[in-house]
Amino acid sequence: MKAFINLAAAALLTVIANPAAAEFEAGQYHDSNCTRCHDTGVYTRENRRVQSYPMLETQVARCDAMLETKLFPDDLALLVDHLNDNYYKYSK
Ligand code: HEC
Repeated sequence: MKAFINLAAAALLTVIANPAAAEFEAGQYHDSNCTRCHDTGVYTRENRRVQSYPMLETQVARCDAMLETKLFPDDLALLVDHLNDNYYKYSK
C-alpha cells in the first residue's frame, strides 16, 4: 500500500512539474482554436496587417487574449513560430 501511495504521489508530481506545455502542438492548437473568426487566408492576403516578426508576436498575443484558453508564454512563442514558418516567413 505504501508503495502504491508513493507511486501515486510521484505520478502527481510529474503532472504538476509538466503542465500541458510539454504536450503543446502548435498546428493542432491553431486549427482547432484560431480559425473561429478567420481562416488562414488572412495570413497570406495581399494587404495583410502583420509586417514583421515582432508584429506577428503582438497580433497572436492579441488574438489569443480573445480566447478563453490563454496560452503559456512558451506555447504562445511556438504558435508564433508555427505561423511564421508556414505563412509569414520573417526573420526574427
Ligand atoms: C475572436 C475572434 C478571433 C480569434 C478567436 C482569433 N482571431 Fe486572429 N484576428 C481576428 C481579427 C478580427 C483580426 C483582424 C482581421 C482583419 O484585420 O481583417 C485577426 C487577425 C489576425 C492576424 C493578422 C493577419 C494579418 O493581416 O497579417 C493573425 C496573425 C491572427 N489573427 C492570428 C490568430 C491566431 C494565432 C489565433 C489563435 C490563437 C487567432 N488569430 C484567433 C480575430 C480573431
